[in-house]
Amino acid sequence: MTAVMLDGKAISAKVKESVKAEIADFIEKTGKSVTLAVIRVGDNPASEIYVRNKIRACEAVGIRSLSITLAGDTSENEVLDKIQSLAADKSVNGILVQLPLPAHINENKILLAIPKEKDVDGFHPENVGDLVLGNPAITACTPSGVIEMIASTGISLCGKHAVVLGRSNIVGKPMALLLLQQNATVTVCHSKTQNLSEITAQADVLIAAIGKPNFVKKEMVKQGAIVVDVGINRTENGIVGDVDPAVQEVASYLSPVPGGVGPMTIAMLMKNTLIAARRQCE
Ligand code: GUN
Repeated sequence: MTAVMLDGKAISAKVKESVKAEIADFIEKTGKSVTLAVIRVGDNPASEIYVRNKIRACEAVGIRSLSITLAGDTSENEVLDKIQSLAADKSVNGILVQLPLPAHINENKILLAIPKEKDVDGFHPENVGDLVLGNPAITACTPSGVIEMIASTGISLCGKHAVVLGRSNIVGKPMALLLLQQNATVTVCHSKTQNLSEITAQADVLIAAIGKPNFVKKEMVKQGAIVVDVGINRTENGIVGDVDPAVQEVASYLSPVPGGVGPMTIAMLMKNTLIAARRQCE
């Protein structure tokens, strides 16, 4: 079997195209613009690229963006002040603080300071709580993008065994909850999981988000599985995912790195910003 590639660029382009049309419609009907504020603290080179891509996507779909870059030694209180002023600004619909933050800043405190209704990342504890409870919620962009990618295959997740590798707050945990919402049977594996290969080999759908280059080998994957690679690992050989490319010999679908999940994350951020703007008008 040779896997069909899940083309994140093409799928995300469709999502952005529809968001662009919906934003134009929103602006026409309400007379209001849609604005996303993105805060970056410090000079993490990866964050710089991610934020640049987010701002570019805003331009492409008609979202006004505010890009705020703060020095790496900015105090936690200064970041909180900035968030508070954006929270109070009625013209700002979404606030995103790019992670990771410098070590002297408490990430939880920062994420809690972003009002739930402007939290386009879906990281606020109340938004996470809504996801757990199955209430309508703004959900984390990367896992939402993975769901959209799987949906593009036309294959239902209902009753499938989905195995998530990784339990981060940004990807693994919300991923598991979104898969559960789609009625998949979900197993979450992590660094302490025993007999990992036995579990991955039972997966109809395998999502890798552990940050270990080429960790998932073809021997660990069930014939015909859908495999989504969320890893972005910088190596001597360039950027590689968590999944060994040879997995394409056994998978039915495989998302490549780069060009897979990455562009989906940004498209879902655009969608979340539109959802936030709409809710603020209700
Ligand atoms: N860092 C890596 N992924 C993300 C994301 O989805 N949102 C934010 N805010 N920071 C990140």
